[in-house]
Amino acid sequence: MNATLIKRLFRVIQSGSSADVDTLCHRIVDEERKQGHEHVARDLERILKDRTPGKTAPPPGTLQRLPTSRRDSAPLVQEIPVDKLRHHMVLPDIVERRFLRIEKEFAARTRLAKHGLKPRHRILLYGPPGCGKSLGAERLAWHTGLPLRKVRFDTLLSSYFGETMANLRKVFDAAQTSPCALFLDECDSLARSRGERNDVGEVSRITNGLLEMLEDYQGDGLVIAATNLDSALDTALFRRFDEVLKVPLPGVDEICRLLTTTLSPMETDPAINWRDLARAMDGMSGSDVVHIAKNAAKHCVLEGRGQVAEPDILHSLAEIQERHQD
Ligand SMILES: Nc1ncnc2c1ncn2[C@@H]1O[C@H](COP(=O)(O)OP(=O)(O)OP(=O)(O)O)[C@@H](O)[C@H]1O
Ligand SMILES: [Mg+2]
Repeated sequence: MNATLIKRLFRVIQSGSSADVDTLCHRIVDEERKQGHEHVARDLERILKDRTPGKTAPPPGTLQRLPTSRRDSAPLVQEIPVDKLRHHMVLPDIVERRFLRIEKEFAARTRLAKHGLKPRHRILLYGPPGCGKSLGAERLAWHTGLPLRKVRFDTLLSSYFGETMANLRKVFDAAQTSPCALFLDECDSLARSRGERNDVGEVSRITNGLLEMLEDYQGDGLVIAATNLDSALDTALFRRFDEVLKVPLPGVDEICRLLTTTLSPMETDPAINWRDLARAMDGMSGSDVVHIAKNAAKHCVLEGRGQVAEPDILHSLAEIQERHQD
């Protein structure tokens, strides 16, 4: 097998996509055949064929560790290794300090245990869209050195009676045995499924099951949940978390920092009035601000200019505002 294929194989294994692993395996068989290694090609083909029909092959190495759904063995989580996590965040001091406190407590968990204390390890992040809840989960995982394991609600939620619960149980059991930052992003989708499935009984069982699993979770990692909603979430759910953290819209200071850090790889005109620009963006999400800065940078590069100027940023601000009005 040539070096390029070996590298690609490693990359797809790392990415966790079983479909890509499959495609690459077939490429390797073709390559071996092209090189006249008919025996090897046939042996490899046999190995691929021997798999149970209809079963999605989990990426090698993840078989024992990562949970799969009961019915079709689809992956119930997506794991992002620590070195692939993003961790640079811009937050108001008060929120930053609360994130830091979680990370410090985790680092001091052995010391805390000697006094019968536990670090905060069930975290709920809530707030408006695009303000860094998902990024916050990545950052917590990065700072604690834990892989981030995102629950895949698309495979977890099953229309078969009792299966969603069984899948959820598998996810929590796996988190208990191999430490990770278990991430339930948009966890309100469990409650939303009530309308779609039209089975109130099943959904309340799932919600209660989630509450129980949160309460029973004694793993060495973190459980992080995120939602846009605050009022719609079950108050019983709120109580199960030992840190409920609002990730707010950025204020003018944070917008200034988001603009300057996003544009830091570029040269910027020293005459730019960052505060005025930030005031014009007050009320926007972190995601919008980052987009504005990136679009301004791209515009500059495409025009062959080396320096981002105020009109570039104002132009992309106007574009985003227009898009929001549509
Ligand atoms: N506080 C922040 N610090 C740095 N970047 C941010 C921040 N908030 C948002 N961003 C930028 O916006 C992008 C989107 O943020 P993220 O996906 O974390 O938002 P979210 O709160 O999870 O949104 P949603 O509710 O839609 O899921 C990030 O990838 C990042 O580029
Ligand atoms: Mg998100």
